[in-house]
Amino acid sequence: MDVFTAIEQRRSIKEFDPNHCMSESEKKQLFEKAILSPTAFNLQHWRFVVLEEKSQIDAMFQLSWNQPQVTSSSLFVIICMDKHAWSKDPGQYWVNAPVEVQELIVPMIDGYYRNNEQAQVDECMRSCGLIGMSLMLVAQQMGYDSCPMDGFDFEKVGKLINLPEDHLIGMAVAIGKPAKDPWPRSGQLPLEKVLIKDQF
Ligand SMILES: Cc1cc2nc3c(=O)[nH]c(=O)nc-3n(C[C@H](O)[C@H](O)[C@H](O)COP(=O)(O)O)c2cc1C
Repeated sequence: MDVFTAIEQRRSIKEFDPNHCMSESEKKQLFEKAILSPTAFNLQHWRFVVLEEKSQIDAMFQLSWNQPQVTSSSLFVIICMDKHAWSKDPGQYWVNAPVEVQELIVPMIDGYYRNNEQAQVDECMRSCGLIGMSLMLVAQQMGYDSCPMDGFDFEKVGKLINLPEDHLIGMAVAIGKPAKDPWPRSGQLPLEKVLIKDQF
């Protein structure tokens, strides 16, 4: 599938075939491709919580106002972000770079994020958006559909998954085989309304 087709065919699916199982090798392929997405300073600060236990899925269903994507999807991923990845052995993100590049970049990471809570959080949300879209497009390529989700109680879901203190929840993505067609596109803005030349 080419990129144009994947983008055009990706729609938010509200209900999946609950009987379909995604194989472990498919899940591995999905994540292996998606994590090639870019992050500032190559921090790769996404951490994926995949809900597998029925009790966890049922609890998530309740915490997301009974949205059927949660229980019917073949894979339900909560995208979490490590806000402090920048401070956790940052050399690991550049270990294969030439030494002169490592010496230049790694100290810059600390300088950029330390004492800048806003930058730490903003970076998490930027990266979460990118990985979320990658997961959805890779899923499309693999013959699956998806639904991005933030319609849930973030605080209670944090407790449910034992979210570490220095992590954030970005959003969730449900992936599976569709059981219902999506609604027609609900109101795409014309390009002229969103494309600004040079200045607002
Ligand atoms: C961050 C984010 C959160 C969303 N949360 C939900 C959700 O909780 N439930 C839902 O049914 N759709 C959710 N959506 C899907 C949007 O409603 C959908 O993307 C939008 O209406 C455009 O439709 P399309 O994705 O089919 O093109 C979410 C989308 C995004 C990007």
